[in-house]
Amino acid sequence: MNSSFEWPSADFTRVPYRVFRDEKVHAREAERLFKGPFWSYLCLDIELPAAGDYVMSYVGETQVFVTRTEEGGVAAFVNSCAHRGAQLVRNLRGNSLSHTCAYHQWCFDLEGRLIGVPQQRGVKGKGGMGPEFDRDRHGLKRLRVDSYKGLWFGTFSDDVAPLADYIGPRITPEIDRIFDRPIKILGYYRQRIPANWKLYLENVKDPYHAGLLHLFHVTFGIYRPTMSGRVFMDETNGHSVLRTADIGERQSDVNEAYSGIDKYRADYRLADASMFDVAPDYDDRVTNMIMTIFPNLMLGQVANTFQVRHVRPKGLKEFELYWTYFGFADEDETATEGKLRQSNFVGPAGYISLEDGEAGRLVQIGTDRRSDEDCSIVEMGGRGEIGDADTLATEVALRGFWKRYVGAMGWDVAPC
Ligand code: FES
Ligand SMILES: [Fe+2]
Repeated sequence: MNSSFEWPSADFTRVPYRVFRDEKVHAREAERLFKGPFWSYLCLDIELPAAGDYVMSYVGETQVFVTRTEEGGVAAFVNSCAHRGAQLVRNLRGNSLSHTCAYHQWCFDLEGRLIGVPQQRGVKGKGGMGPEFDRDRHGLKRLRVDSYKGLWFGTFSDDVAPLADYIGPRITPEIDRIFDRPIKILGYYRQRIPANWKLYLENVKDPYHAGLLHLFHVTFGIYRPTMSGRVFMDETNGHSVLRTADIGERQSDVNEAYSGIDKYRADYRLADASMFDVAPDYDDRVTNMIMTIFPNLMLGQVANTFQVRHVRPKGLKEFELYWTYFGFADEDETATEGKLRQSNFVGPAGYISLEDGEAGRLVQIGTDRRSDEDCSIVEMGGRGEIGDADTLATEVALRGFWKRYVGAMGWDVAPC
């Protein structure tokens, strides 16, 4: 699949299954998306409170590390030594005012400068680097970084707009809503899912599945398509927000929506309902807020849990889902305990989220040997123009993702 590839539908209601299993597509993503004019999520500001604090992260499949500098700034580098390329930082997180490579002990400061080369002048007057070797020219490969409300992003591109403009004014108010007070980290999950990374983006942009795949969601009233809900996007349609609030739901609508479907079980009760005995942090009755920032970040709220989910490709048919789970700095112990109880909703074995990983696996298996022309049908909510929706019975945000993706990949689109 090269630049002459023609996407089969101008309104993005068809997605060729090849994009989930073609090595050439995967290689092109590495160049066009992850080295191209897009911002990739790195970490949260709060993870780097002191000079020398660092975390390992990824831009696409490129491993990077992000560190707090001596001056209080944040810098990100490709995690590869300037000498012969060894992985430099080997822990997921830590603190160090300099980084020394394990292989030949070259040492770098927090600005990525090369500050030490053992035996640079040789040993016993022999060998070593020549006089022309200039340490100042051999620092670590540095990324451009920018932040919005404590979310740090990096890019290899000089061309992409500042982060706030990239996210755009339709989406930033949702970030402002959650980050309206200082946060604290409650924990991390890491999860390997045997599916192409884009299948997860499809999943979290898809309100249609959420009321059908997830029995827990539906039965215990965290998410039902009969709730008040909407989907909206930025002007490129690549970022999106799905939002539900338990407002205006009538039991008769629920009964009708689920007649003949066994995912709403009015007869089910929790033996221990303490997971729901958690006071919400916001009084807007939002039960779900799922935001995606193109290409591979999800930020969300499920009940009273708050998480960042970073979708990290690991080859063509696998990704790591890296969850950063947070609460608020000023909340009391009871509130934090409540969030930790509700963390059972999400994460690798969560009552809800477990099923999303499995859905990706099923699609990967199901489509792996389909013909090159075969496509999925992404038509809930209708065809034609891509725009915001005031219903949850829609797949329009997936179409927005594919539109942005196809543009990023530089492919042609079939005329209508
Ligand atoms: S590869 Fe890092 S010091 Fe040689
Ligand atoms: Fe889901």
